Amino acid sequence: MKKINIAVDGLSSCGKSTLAKDLAKKIGYTYIDSGAMYRAVALYALRSGWVTEDDIDKEALKQHIPEIRITFRTNEQGQQETYLNGENVEKEIRSLEVGNAASRISTLDFVRREMVRQQQEMGKEKGVVMDGRDIGTVVFPDAELKIFLTASPETRALRRFNELKEKGEEITYEEVLANIKERDERDSNRSQSPVRKADDAIELDNSNLTVEEQLQWAIDMFNKKMQQI
Ligand code: DC
Repeated sequence: MKKINIAVDGLSSCGKSTLAKDLAKKIGYTYIDSGAMYRAVALYALRSGWVTEDDIDKEALKQHIPEIRITFRTNEQGQQETYLNGENVEKEIRSLEVGNAASRISTLDFVRREMVRQQQEMGKEKGVVMDGRDIGTVVFPDAELKIFLTASPETRALRRFNELKEKGEEITYEEVLANIKERDERDSNRSQSPVRKADDAIELDNSNLTVEEQLQWAIDMFNKKMQQI
């Protein structure tokens, strides 16, 4: 059967990875978390001392970026995990510190160029559901199905707060909300591929939808698209 590529874009903690993961599983496609790739690069840069509170050593990062190899493997529970040069970094890349560094290094054009190149390579056989910020606009501008998810900053902050609390991070809801707003600002206003809904993307505000309702909506969109092509 013919396969397509599916782009799922949106701001931080809008539920794109949950939706993209569930949809990929349901339709037998490969899920790719593009944010995990920026996070893995950020972790590499943090460990190397190239990202500090107020500075990024761009030259060092640019020089060493070809050494950074990011891959995904599925664990025994069927969950996808991120590997950085062969090391499982799935847990480490999910911290707030790495997320903030990822948001900062993802503003650099040479980082984006390399990530986009790797992502396009992963999608060239089709059958991929990829989530991120620029998938429908830059990575797969020809994706047959593009979904743009939105939810209010407060809804997203509450979801993220609950996730972090479950992981045992010491943080207040107000801090998470401030962090979400700061990242929204940077991810939306950067000069390189700011988060933007592609003209041909379908927008879904999931503030008042359950995970199951969202998934059903996406499956309906997918089936409709497959009938058209
Ligand atoms: O989706 P996430 O929170 O895991 O993404 C981490 C950071 O990576 C986010 O702040 C912005 C950046 N990112 C990006 O610029 N483009 C993407 N396609 C995915 C993520």
